[in-house]
Amino acid sequence: MCGIFAYYGEKKNAPELVIEGLKNLEYRGYDSWGIAYKTPTEIIIHKEIGKIGDIKTKDLELGESGVAMAHSRWATHGGVTKANAHPHFSENKEIVLIHNGIFENYSEVKKDLIKKGHKFVSQTDTEVLAHLIEQHTRKHSFEDSVKLAVKEIEGRYAIVVMKKDEDKIIAARKGSPLIIGVGKTHGEYFIASDIPAFLKHTNKVIYLDDNQICVIENRKINFYDNATNEEIKKRIIEIDLDIESSEKGEFEHFMMKEIMEQKETLNRAINQDPKTIEQVAKAIESAEDTYFVGCGTAGKAAMVGAYLFAKISKKQIRFVFGSEFQNYKEFINKKTLIVCVSQSGETADTLEAIEIAKEKGAKVAAIVNVESSTIARTADMVIPIKAGPEIGVASTKATTSQLAILTMLAYACDGGVEIAKQLLIRTASQINDMLNPRYAEHIKKIANKLKDIESMYIIGRGANFPMALECAIKLQEVSYIHAEGFAGGELKHGPLALITKNTPVIALVANDDCRKEILSNAQEVKARGGYIIGVSPTNEEVFDFWIRVPDTGETSPIVNIIPVQILAYQLAVLRQNDPDKPRNLAKSVTVK
Ligand code: M6R
Repeated sequence: MCGIFAYYGEKKNAPELVIEGLKNLEYRGYDSWGIAYKTPTEIIIHKEIGKIGDIKTKDLELGESGVAMAHSRWATHGGVTKANAHPHFSENKEIVLIHNGIFENYSEVKKDLIKKGHKFVSQTDTEVLAHLIEQHTRKHSFEDSVKLAVKEIEGRYAIVVMKKDEDKIIAARKGSPLIIGVGKTHGEYFIASDIPAFLKHTNKVIYLDDNQICVIENRKINFYDNATNEEIKKRIIEIDLDIESSEKGEFEHFMMKEIMEQKETLNRAINQDPKTIEQVAKAIESAEDTYFVGCGTAGKAAMVGAYLFAKISKKQIRFVFGSEFQNYKEFINKKTLIVCVSQSGETADTLEAIEIAKEKGAKVAAIVNVESSTIARTADMVIPIKAGPEIGVASTKATTSQLAILTMLAYACDGGVEIAKQLLIRTASQINDMLNPRYAEHIKKIANKLKDIESMYIIGRGANFPMALECAIKLQEVSYIHAEGFAGGELKHGPLALITKNTPVIALVANDDCRKEILSNAQEVKARGGYIIGVSPTNEEVFDFWIRVPDTGETSPIVNIIPVQILAYQLAVLRQNDPDKPRNLAKSVTVK
């Protein structure tokens, strides 16, 4: 989603530096971008629609400056236009601001400001905030004006603001990530929505928490609690992330790199202290009710988790999408546990579920990839999946690691964490054998056959039903082909009407209790002219095309998704889509 990157320090190429940093946030997904920097006499803004990747900074004729901010926008309020792109000026053009999140009550504030004579040039909520700060500066200092203005915001935000004639840059957050990078030279600071923006310059970071404000001036940094206005001390943390893990290496796209990394990432997820898993397993056992919560792909993994618990530990878990959780709030109390699954740890819908759960006194556990994220820092217990930075918008390696942790958790509730570990070690080694160029070439044959189709369907049963839904997400987001997943048994209740001659249907066939039934469902499709692509350990008569996967028992959801990730990637490339940055989507969905 939107990206923020700002610089304050001695370097005089701040405008160029923030543009280069913003390029490292491209994976978050955006549709326009802009920068602002200060010269001794004015603030200069430059905005563009489209991608920043190909921009050569020398073509922009940037001036010298030691203070600059950059933003990539993912449109929410107002279309994709230059006027709506950030940064936004205040009425008097003395204050400039970038913003992630949503200012929910902006229209009332805007009406009030219009009455006071303010004129707006964009349709955004962000511009209203710049004007609101300016309105306060008529009676208060710049710093106090920012503090007063953010108190009026309903919604989530991360902002960076600066003012002409003040050697100061101010940042504030509530619900949307903002991290300070501490530079190598005295008084040098970076402010970003995500660490890769400044990783090249420093690995020393300070996490800004909700309702905190950071003021950088005269080469010094101070933090305040915005509720009490008291100064607070913050800790500098050295993070263990290398630049290489956020680079493509020999691969053309991050998505393929991350698919191939699954041989190693699974092992990292499995080989962690079993006590971390057992702690959450105990909490599930003692809770009266447990909810698994997640969104998108993480939601599908959580849904698989509920099936695994039913089968392995004979325990009932409810699955709810983050965005639907509020409908269950009447049932949440001190005896409830919610287990949130999230790659980024910043998904607004999942965070809202946590807020509801905490208000009701429930305990929260999190299965996350980004260990420094808001979800990880808010949860009472955390199981890190240790997949490393996932840059491609389409989640791949994080998904299989989430599934591995959920499998361990289900076994741990039955006292068998070591059994799970051995099973997953075998699965990882079988995946290692499977992920080779020959395998990808075989899948490419089917991608070539499918590249011009309009619709396709995926069927599964049991734990492979949510995986059918996940296969559909993968195909939709990068190939842009209409794809839908169904429970095999549901076909005859409606979707079968969609099957005509050569309609492609992927059948996820595990060697489990559902095998016979899902093969019968494939037969039902075939009888109506459908073309069956079987993902299965064995070739079956009903298959028109067979993609072999190892027979791994309870971990079939992990192995079944991998060939479909490869298929989705290859379809994206054949259809000339960018698999790493699908249209309209963002890596970290920080708005509700
Ligand atoms: O960061 P999260 O795992 O919480 O993100 C949730 C979804 O936005 C995410 O899984 C999304 O569906 C993926 N891009 C799909 O590949």
